[in-house]
Amino acid sequence: MNRLKDNLFKLSKISDTDCGVTRISYTPTYLKGRELVKIFMQEAGLKIKVDPVGNLIGRWEGQYPDKSVIAMGSHIDTVPNGGRFDGAVGVLGAIEVVRTLKEIDYHPIHPIEVISFINEEGSVSVDIGGVFGSRAMLGLININKDLEEELVKIDLNKEDIINSYRDPKQFKCYLEVHIEQGNVLEKNHIPIGIVTGIVGSWRFLGKIKGVASHAGTTPMNQRDDALLKSLPVVKYVNEIAKQIDKNMVGTVGALIVKPGVTNVIPGEVILKLEFRSTNKVYLEKANAMLNDKMTLQGSVLKTVSKADPVLLDNKLQNLIKQICEKKGIKYNKMSSFAGHDSRETAKKIPSALIFIPSQGGISHSPKEFTSDDDINNGVSVLLEIIKQLDSI
Ligand code: GLV
Ligand code: MN
Ligand code: MN
Repeated sequence: MNRLKDNLFKLSKISDTDCGVTRISYTPTYLKGRELVKIFMQEAGLKIKVDPVGNLIGRWEGQYPDKSVIAMGSHIDTVPNGGRFDGAVGVLGAIEVVRTLKEIDYHPIHPIEVISFINEEGSVSVDIGGVFGSRAMLGLININKDLEEELVKIDLNKEDIINSYRDPKQFKCYLEVHIEQGNVLEKNHIPIGIVTGIVGSWRFLGKIKGVASHAGTTPMNQRDDALLKSLPVVKYVNEIAKQIDKNMVGTVGALIVKPGVTNVIPGEVILKLEFRSTNKVYLEKANAMLNDKMTLQGSVLKTVSKADPVLLDNKLQNLIKQICEKKGIKYNKMSSFAGHDSRETAKKIPSALIFIPSQGGISHSPKEFTSDDDINNGVSVLLEIIKQLDSI
């Protein structure tokens, strides 16, 4: 599978930075990356379509086009200075499965689609949340005025979301191969992770107001400094997660300080933050606690996106288990604390997520690495699942 290795390398070269891969959705660099993936899809003989929000779909018509679609894929957007494998393995690996099946003169009964979902990471500068493409396709986006204001900044509108929707009944299943992004598999020398459930992730914007004024002439006891007021909130996000559950996490990932110059006291701070948990009740609790604190302070907490946790399809997990056993591959059942498009698809169609090891458990970093053997192993399991699902 040198071809897959080469394609992963070629895609990694389309980046806004030399240090790791920076391919943020909707940027010219992202679009260039998507063009390359289109070429890979065309080489695999797939029929190409880009939906209104920007999901790239490559379709292989089955012998019975009316049968439900077997879909597989992931995403090709990255975080800033991210890795070469996060998402890309799932998309390019799925294309490789199609090419390999064609080489053995396989003719699928079901239509097969490779999907490259847009904005999985949600690293785009506007606040539309992550797993955006998969949420749009499955009708999981709550369209409101705030979202519409953000969409226009990237030349999208609510019709684009509405027109990207596909009836879940069209699909038989969705399958995603992804790097683990943690170190459980590597530590235990296990090449395949069968994911049982995926953490939920709720993202918010905090708006904290102060009064912007001259940093030289305003005495220390007459200031209303928004940045200073934001610090207890940052700390509280951390405390909330620790208080609620040992596996819950809460992160303030960005602070935007306005006007953002040295000689003006900060008049407004915007916090970008999220909570993650496998339990929706904990997410609701965290939301309420933070909301109370911020309201008391006269600040505002706005929801960007609420991607709830899911359990993945049992039948698909069993099928993967049987395939691993037949192939003599060790596997581990595990949960995912990273978000994935399969979390969204799982809310509407049977979905599976297959992990392969991440060296040192490092991801969202230029150091992210997964060996060719591990990638090829994951892709060969995916190929076998497709064949089996196609036959039933
Ligand atoms: C994506 O990698 C996420 O977990 O947010
Ligand atoms: Mn990913
Ligand atoms: Mn990621």
